[in-house]
Amino acid sequence: MIRDGTVFDDDHLPTSIVGRNRHMNEVTDALAPIQDGFRAENCFLFGPSGVGKTTVAKAAVRELRQEVLDVPYAYVNCWQDYTRNAVLEQISRDLVGAALPRSASTGRLIDRIKTDLNGPGVVILDEVDQLRETNVLYDLHEIRGLSWIGIANREVDLLADLDDRITSRISVAYRVHFDSYGEDAITEILSRRAREGLGPGAVDEDVLAQIARLSEGDARQAIAALRVGARMASREGLSAIPARLVEDAVADAEREVRQKTISKLNSHQRALYEVLEEECGLIQKELYARYREVHDDPVTLRYLRENHLPKLEHYNLVDVERRGGSKRYSLIGVNHPEQF
Ligand SMILES: Nc1ncnc2c1ncn2[C@@H]1O[C@H](COP(=O)(O)OP(=O)(O)O)[C@@H](O)[C@H]1O
Ligand SMILES: [Mg+2]
Repeated sequence: MIRDGTVFDDDHLPTSIVGRNRHMNEVTDALAPIQDGFRAENCFLFGPSGVGKTTVAKAAVRELRQEVLDVPYAYVNCWQDYTRNAVLEQISRDLVGAALPRSASTGRLIDRIKTDLNGPGVVILDEVDQLRETNVLYDLHEIRGLSWIGIANREVDLLADLDDRITSRISVAYRVHFDSYGEDAITEILSRRAREGLGPGAVDEDVLAQIARLSEGDARQAIAALRVGARMASREGLSAIPARLVEDAVADAEREVRQKTISKLNSHQRALYEVLEEECGLIQKELYARYREVHDDPVTLRYLRENHLPKLEHYNLVDVERRGGSKRYSLIGVNHPEQF
């Protein structure tokens, strides 16, 4: 039943973006100066997971590159590339096609980008709240012609760790806020995905609406559920997804998405995750103490509170129960035996 599996990949950039015209316009407006050869406005996209932030950023750059051929462009995922050098390396590779040795100094990387970039260029800094060495934002500011689109869940997570020099530079950036999708938008996104990726008649509108309803405004979850549903139906020898499979498909998709997120965790987030796997319902102080025992280069409690813990929460790995003045953390989707 699945004709083209790549249509369901998380980094598949759809030809048309559903229900995000305002967001697309705001980002393309910010990028518009590039069409006249100038540096664009920096901008930030904020919002929860699965609401189309990465998609809108990439689609806006795609549009720009259709207008202005070959505008140099780089994509950095700061969750993987979180040091100053890793970001600069990725940019020099994507933007100016210069692969420098892994050991190249920060200064050399910056010089290389500066000399090779003639005119405007644009960088997407995805998951920018995961940057450990935020001074790289200042480096980017110093590169003439370069502008960036920063993507994060919430502005406060991003500002937790910035020095004043950078805060004042980014305070003028455009801000575009994304809310969760409504059921209609998700249904429409699914319907187009089904048309591209599944055989004809593989899924009817009711089933799509049902998946949308159970996906709580998260397009990533919904698309994963559609793929899982198609797989389950094929296994039963069916050529269409029956309504009775939807609930299981959504639950399986949730597990799949969660597993993929877990594989992206950095060492601090992973240590927290593993501590909570052993013991659920820890308050912040206990959790921090256990994390310090298992991690050999622990961050401060403040950094943990303002960066790593919110990230686990945004990606639906951890549930936070606020009781009285304290927060109690447990893993989502992991059954702990009753404690007596
Ligand atoms: N407006 C949209 N139109 C079509 N597909 C979308 C739209 N928004 C999100 N998607 C799809 O949903 C998934 C998650 O979107 P993504 O942009 O990665 O979310 P975010 O970056 O906010 O977590 C991707 O597979 C993407 O292609
Ligand atoms: Mg994203």
